[in-house]
Amino acid sequence: MSSPNSSAPSRREFLKTSSALAATATAASTLTMSRFAHAAGDDTIKIGLIGCGGRGTGAASQALSTKGAVKLVAMGDAFKDNLDGSLKNLLASDGSLKDKIDVPDDRKFAGFDAYQKVLAAGVDLVILATPPGFRPIHFDAAVKAGKHVFMEKPVAVDGTGVRMVLAAAEEAKKKNLGVGVGLQRRHQKEYLETIKRLQDGAIGDIVSARVYWNGSTPWCHTREDEKKKKPDLTEMEYQMRNWYYFVWLCGDHIVEQHIHNMDVINWLKGGHPVRANGLGGAEVRKGPDYGEIFDHHAVEFEYADGTRMFSQCRHIVGCWSNISEHAHGTKGYSDISGSSIKVAGGDAWKYRGERPNPYQVEHDDLFASIRSGNPLNEAQYGATSTMTAILGRLCTYSGQEISWDQALNSKISVTPKEFAFNATPPVVPGPNGMYRLAVPGVTTVV
Ligand SMILES: NC(=O)c1ccc[n+]([C@@H]2O[C@H](COP(=O)([O-])OP(=O)(O)OC[C@H]3O[C@@H](n4cnc5c(N)ncnc54)[C@H](O)[C@@H]3O)[C@@H](O)[C@H]2O)c1
Repeated sequence: MSSPNSSAPSRREFLKTSSALAATATAASTLTMSRFAHAAGDDTIKIGLIGCGGRGTGAASQALSTKGAVKLVAMGDAFKDNLDGSLKNLLASDGSLKDKIDVPDDRKFAGFDAYQKVLAAGVDLVILATPPGFRPIHFDAAVKAGKHVFMEKPVAVDGTGVRMVLAAAEEAKKKNLGVGVGLQRRHQKEYLETIKRLQDGAIGDIVSARVYWNGSTPWCHTREDEKKKKPDLTEMEYQMRNWYYFVWLCGDHIVEQHIHNMDVINWLKGGHPVRANGLGGAEVRKGPDYGEIFDHHAVEFEYADGTRMFSQCRHIVGCWSNISEHAHGTKGYSDISGSSIKVAGGDAWKYRGERPNPYQVEHDDLFASIRSGNPLNEAQYGATSTMTAILGRLCTYSGQEISWDQALNSKISVTPKEFAFNATPPVVPGPNGMYRLAVPGVTTVV
């Protein structure tokens, strides 16, 4: 640790002090020391990256671009080739990042247990950017290990996972650990200003909201392509490579993407829906490489005060594309994503201020809060909005009206019993290579 401020403890001094205290100190006071080291503002925050794909690489680059001393010291991924690609990109991305990367071979970890090895590699903060199915396990382990966390959304794929995240979030609070969640709209200047005005009553009481993530279909790693790279590909390896299309890994696109839009309305309402009903299916995107997820969902959510949120998400090429959030009030209307407000018979308002990159701002805010000794903890709202999206999926899969409590407390878990590349995943294809999709009216989900 470099220490330009001589009055602040060096890392070695701090660690020495901590271990001398450890015999008598409680866990809480040891963590207070850890917090103090960062509050001194001259301590290197050592970062571990778990999940080295597109977003993990981006998040690492943003974490390394925050103010103060930071270093990427360990990386872990299920697949070594993804880890190597990520490190190569980070080293090549920008000359200024290069000096902040120190990941020798003995701090590169591959496999399902890579997260444990990263957590044990002397890191202060971990970035969790695997597919969301692993998030509850990784977040729980990170908090138990006393690490600060930046985790991507969604933070789970079922109620069991959400409950685990909520419990770990409480533990993180007690340990004064920073927890950032990749719902970057919450750090986006134009959203912050618009939501504040709406919460201050700019359009009166909110009576309904509309949210959309209607777009095209994302990437697909076909079995054929993966088999060309690895002829003895197992079913588990295939699903891990093509994770988007499996509920146990992705949660379906209503959870993986549409969470962003639902989170905006939860934020505006300061709560979450109490029940929902919906419909959906796989109308166009069908085939063995599209796994078990739907290509469209439409859900009506109801909040405790009766406010409705109407949601649509679709992955069908050639249809109306729209990613946005809207609120209707007793006095007017807001296109929240367009950061504009229109009051009936009154003035219109539109945000005209700065628009810094929210992916950078969310990291700036988290790291600054950790250094201040008063770390952000966004896990609760991250878990709540994840659960909102899961509730939507449970409704579209089953065709039933489902309450928040039923969904959150459901004992059904989609997590595999065993994590190994030769283990059987929770879903397997039938003889025709197709996976079984949920059938509304037949499938039970809670
Ligand atoms: N906030 C945003 O706007 C935003 C944007 C894109 C992605 N995301 C989120 O980021 C997460 C990752 O998405 P991505 O686009 O980077 O996917 P990706 O496929 O590019 O990367 C995921 C990486 O995780 C690795 N991985 C899988 N299981 C693992 C395990 N058990 N342990 C360690 N590594 C594992 C994969 O091998 C892969 O390298 C998802 O939750 C996604 O929803 C958020």
